Amino acid sequence: MESWEEPYMQKLASIAASNGGRVLEVGFGLGISASFVQQHPIEEHMIIEANQEVFNRLQAFAKTAPYPVTPKLGLWEDVVSTLPDGSCDGILYDTYPLSEDDLHIHQFDFVRQAYRLMKPNGVLTYCNLTSWGNLKAQYPEDQILFEKTQVPHLKEAGFSNLRIEIFNVSPLAACQYYQALTILAPIVKK
Ligand SMILES: C[S@@+](CC[C@H](N)C(=O)[O-])C[C@H]1O[C@@H](n2cnc3c(N)ncnc32)[C@H](O)[C@@H]1O
Repeated sequence: MESWEEPYMQKLASIAASNGGRVLEVGFGLGISASFVQQHPIEEHMIIEANQEVFNRLQAFAKTAPYPVTPKLGLWEDVVSTLPDGSCDGILYDTYPLSEDDLHIHQFDFVRQAYRLMKPNGVLTYCNLTSWGNLKAQYPEDQILFEKTQVPHLKEAGFSNLRIEIFNVSPLAACQYYQALTILAPIVKK
């Protein structure tokens, strides 16, 4: 996570929290997006985090956050099966792939679960900066990148209301994984 990503994290947080209610976040990291989620009037902020040290920071965050936080320790692959169908108003997914082979597709395993977890009017947003930074060479336009590389998987998961916002960013010259000046912010609904 680099500082130029913070406004983008704010955008993703505002999408995930746009319905209020229960927001599920996957991957706490530095807690940047989580802090932005907490700027919205939500009822519950459930956060799944696999790394024990990061989870310790998440527990500290939960103690001072303005709105109730429910921290869950573990891989989302293990935790989401414990969550009920149709229980989330908004979801924000931002994790790493478990292997290099999953670089472009790790989000889609989660997307299939997100469909089950989401209320009928819920909203999912997510990012995969390393993948999208790489795909920009082939698809310089965000809308085309979304349509060619994300939409087929989102539709396969059951989602049909799919759009993006195109967000301006200023990556550092030394950033290894993203060099474009715009990035897509998915707004995915059933
Ligand atoms: C890119 S960071 C999240 C950054 C966060 N959005 C922020 O604004 O600071 C990814 C986080 O996901 C966690 N993570 C990676 N794979 C995971 C998985 N399978 N389940 C749960 N958490 C995972 C990592 O430990 C890390 O804390």
